[in-house]
Amino acid sequence: MLQRPRRNRLTPVLRNLVQENHLQISSLVQPLFLIPGENIKLEIKSLPGIFRFSEDLLLEEIGACMSLGINTFLIFPAIPEEWKDKSASYSYSPDNFYLKAAKNIKKQYPASCIISDVAMDPYSSDGHDGWVEDGQILNDKTLPVLAKMAMAQAEAGFDLIGPSDMMDGRVQFIRESLDKAGFTQTGILSYTAKYASAFYGPFRDALDSAPKSGDKKTYQMNPANLQEALKEAHLDISEGADIIMVKPALHYLDVIHLLKTNTNIPIAAYHVSGECAMLIAAAQNGWLDRKKAIEETLMGIKRAGADIIITYFAREYAENTTKQS
Ligand code: PBG
Repeated sequence: MLQRPRRNRLTPVLRNLVQENHLQISSLVQPLFLIPGENIKLEIKSLPGIFRFSEDLLLEEIGACMSLGINTFLIFPAIPEEWKDKSASYSYSPDNFYLKAAKNIKKQYPASCIISDVAMDPYSSDGHDGWVEDGQILNDKTLPVLAKMAMAQAEAGFDLIGPSDMMDGRVQFIRESLDKAGFTQTGILSYTAKYASAFYGPFRDALDSAPKSGDKKTYQMNPANLQEALKEAHLDISEGADIIMVKPALHYLDVIHLLKTNTNIPIAAYHVSGECAMLIAAAQNGWLDRKKAIEETLMGIKRAGADIIITYFAREYAENTTKQS
């Protein structure tokens, strides 16, 4: 036998020497949920161990993450039902608690990188990402709302704007609006290939943002499609996206790989709430080793081609890695 692959696996040092992929803590993004109020920390039932924080406690959480090397955060607001309306007007209202919190985060942690969420659903009484009329999601009527939201977020200090709504043409619409208003330094992380997935359940619990009627299949992608992701990627890049995202991550590793090998801008992968919940539940039952399963999951996403991984386990992974070394 001339080739014995096991020779390269003989010792830990050899295994490390020939390791092809490395997961860096600096590539991880921690999603965080913000609620109004003070001194509140509420666990998400379908995502045990993950919380909604009021601003004061969110600031502490960010500090704790940053001391572990997690510096990038995707921040989502949970809006009380009575502040929601058809036009999602609270999203750019001057007294919006999400925008105020962003300012305070950047003030307290100027070295952090904060990413916003642009979509109507958290603020919309219809619970859809776009403007709803007669049961239809109106693409072009949604764009100006998204742009207003994006500009308010840029003004508040978000480093990256994250359109998660899947309306056509929104990246360009937002880019041009930001540029006209002088926000040429604010980047766009576009949710490029976002699928109509069953794995967003815990997230919608966290924000109470599930659609009031219908589903999201007229704007989010069909899980059966791969080539269409490439079309969305080329469009978003030509419209000015700085980073493109695949979401969910685990069930769409082929999509991550396709975009990585066919584009030349950074690829983010969103390990979504339902994908994390499955692992948490199995570990709670003693069916999986939580720490090892998290490591293998994140490495799988990395190996598929993700440059950036957004995961509810970012902090935990960093804690585990720091403890080891
Ligand atoms: C909505 C949005 C969703 C997620 C991020 N932004 C849910 C949805 O599209 O219904 C899901 C993230 C997760 O499940 O972790 N604009």
